[in-house]
Amino acid sequence: MLVNSNEMLLKAKKNHYAVPHFNINNLEWTKYILEECNELNIPVILGVSEGAAKYMGGFNTIYKMTEGLIQDLNIKIPVCLHVDHAKSEKVCIAAIDAGFKSVMIDASIYQVEENILITKKVVDYAHKHNVSVEAEIGHIKEAKDNIEKMENATLEDCLKMVKETHIDSLAPALGSVHGLYKEEANLDFETMQKINDELEIPLVLHGGTGIEDEKIKHAIACGISKININTDLQVAWSKDVKKFIKENDTVYDPRKIIQSGEKAIKRRVREIVTLFGTKL
Ligand code: 13P
Repeated sequence: MLVNSNEMLLKAKKNHYAVPHFNINNLEWTKYILEECNELNIPVILGVSEGAAKYMGGFNTIYKMTEGLIQDLNIKIPVCLHVDHAKSEKVCIAAIDAGFKSVMIDASIYQVEENILITKKVVDYAHKHNVSVEAEIGHIKEAKDNIEKMENATLEDCLKMVKETHIDSLAPALGSVHGLYKEEANLDFETMQKINDELEIPLVLHGGTGIEDEKIKHAIACGISKININTDLQVAWSKDVKKFIKENDTVYDPRKIIQSGEKAIKRRVREIVTLFGTKL
């Protein structure tokens, strides 16, 4: 069933676990994640970046593909199709019009007032269509960027964003980065706890790949209810596919090549959601 993320995230917040957000890249990725989460009987959020949307043909294609897989594979769990880091109102509207039930508007490159203004416009449109909205405060960097000077969220800006926009979930930048960490993740748990104490809405942790297990558990204890994972599955999949090609250099059937990474994706999905304590 395709749903927005409100119920699953509020349940996670109340019961102290996190719902996984896995980024998808193609049909196979989507199929493997859906099958594994259905087997485990847990909710899942399928994240689609602007780049991935372009790669797969567009939001309509992705919506219909996901809807079709849910039907054909008899998937019974709640599934949320979500736009990850949409940079503009226009992109959010295109996804909502295609059927997406959840969007992240990421106007975090702007000053907080401008960020709030853009986010508010997205919320106005989304809520009319029963679509949940996530926004970012501070700025979550890429691991490959210069991360010496982090742009972390402040409690004050988080409160202002939520009060003025009525978003459904908030991703505060608190030290995590997207991609492979060069050093240990340095998360600001103190501010995370303070933000959670002051807000009723669920908090989101981006850059979930490579954060040590104990820190993930600590973040969940501080109120994180959704954790985004992208690079982890890419690394696991490509490692097995490269090995398969090396050992089977006469194989040219793309189905066999792509599928050689299936087990790795499913294994990582299972390990990750076990760590998150995800429940239905
Ligand atoms: P990673 O690629 O570091 O797992 O981050 C994923 C993410 O935050 C997507 O929004």
